[in-house]
Amino acid sequence: MKLILGGALGRMGREVALAAKDAGMEIACGVDVAYTGQPCDFPVVTDFDKVTIPGDVLVDFSRPAGLPELLNLARRTGMPVVLCTTGYTEDELAEIDKASKEIAVFRSANMSLGINLLRRLAATAAKTLGEDFDIEIIERHHRMKADAPSGTALMLYDAVEKEAGSLKEPIYGRYGRTAQRKHSEIGLHAVRGGTVTGEHEVCFLGEGEEILLTHRAENRSLFARGAVKAARFLKGKPAGMYDMQDVLDELLG
Ligand SMILES: NC(=O)c1ccc[n+]([C@@H]2O[C@H](COP(=O)([O-])OP(=O)(O)OC[C@H]3O[C@@H](n4cnc5c(N)ncnc54)[C@H](O)[C@@H]3O)[C@@H](O)[C@H]2O)c1
Repeated sequence: MKLILGGALGRMGREVALAAKDAGMEIACGVDVAYTGQPCDFPVVTDFDKVTIPGDVLVDFSRPAGLPELLNLARRTGMPVVLCTTGYTEDELAEIDKASKEIAVFRSANMSLGINLLRRLAATAAKTLGEDFDIEIIERHHRMKADAPSGTALMLYDAVEKEAGSLKEPIYGRYGRTAQRKHSEIGLHAVRGGTVTGEHEVCFLGEGEEILLTHRAENRSLFARGAVKAARFLKGKPAGMYDMQDVLDELLG
């Protein structure tokens, strides 16, 4: 299977090249605005418009700026796309949605299969325990992370809130003498420091028992492996929008 790789020279692009090789795939062509002719294991061009080598699936870890050219290439060639880049505007998301009427589009802000399984397990636990157990979400990330809570913690919140039964509201940390917990709360807590790649824990705290569902990311390669799995999943799929939950559905049968 041959991939076209957007953002090929970036941190994630390099991880995907390694993960693709491990999975027996080939990078037919990389695309990166920063390419200036440096040696690379595969051909690289600076713009999606310049890709002339055919590929089975396009995997992108770049920046939203190249989206119009990326979608042109996908439409022109009928090539499915795995969009891992984050930070799209509402207008760009609408463009992606429009393109998915013509081509297969896979988009997930978190490409880790493990995190997506955690989301499903947490939703099941919330459905089963939500009325009786208190739910809290704790995430830990390195000191450089700009946003809090993480996008993944918010995704986990949405998944458990939907299933937890009675109306729940998010509480971002607690402080002060009148901070006693209400049952309607789901607490979200962001710990920052050091070089932690990323940890998410969904806690179900009941009378005399606790269930803690934890995912720990040791490095960024898990996102690359997820992207490669997504590419394999997407090859040959009809036009439409897909995400990691569809991969899980297929795996779980
Ligand atoms: N979905 C996920 O699970 C997941 C995980 C990690 C990172 N990301 C996202 O992937 C993206 C890349 O992350 P990174 O850490 O590798 O960043 P990076 O800055 O290391 O790499 C991005 C690369 O894209 C190139 N680039 C920028 N604009 C381009 C364009 N218009 N066309 C082609 N190439 C272009 C840059 O030159 C750079 O080499 C970010 O949006 C990041 O948030 C998503």
